[in-house]
Amino acid sequence: MQHNTHKSAGWTLISTVSLFFAAASFGVSLLSAAPASGADTFKAKCAACHGPDGSGSTAMGQKMKVHDLRSPDVQKQTDDELTAIITNGKPPMPAYGKTLTPAEIHQIVVYLRSIAAKS
Ligand code: HEC
Repeated sequence: MQHNTHKSAGWTLISTVSLFFAAASFGVSLLSAAPASGADTFKAKCAACHGPDGSGSTAMGQKMKVHDLRSPDVQKQTDDELTAIITNGKPPMPAYGKTLTPAEIHQIVVYLRSIAAKS
């Protein structure tokens, strides 16, 4: 009898632990099921230099003389060219090929097109 009690306490612990992991991985899969939008990624990773609107009118952007990402000079580049700049960097701009996935970089390029200056 004592032996049984001990055994069932052990099973309760195991199922509590596995429930915990099931809940934790469910939470993780919920998070990864909703990837950040290009706008969110841009604001998180790029806005410090390029400004939240891409204009480059931040202290850091002015110091580094970044181009207005909405301008025709930047927008005339192809998606492939913009993707390559973001992936490989363009000193002093850091490369993002290791920290962002190709899908995230693609979302950013889509976002950059959406903020293009309307002329
Ligand atoms: C540390 C500051 C910094 C950060 C952070 C940064 N950039 Fe840049 N970026 C620059 C600078 C400086 C240039 C200009 C490089 C040059 O022209 O030689 C540049 C250039 C660019 C260009 C090319 C524009 C042109 O002149 O043709 C694009 C596109 C761009 N950045 C996108 C991004 C994106 C997207 C992110 C975020 C994933 C990002 N940048 C993060 C500093 C930064």
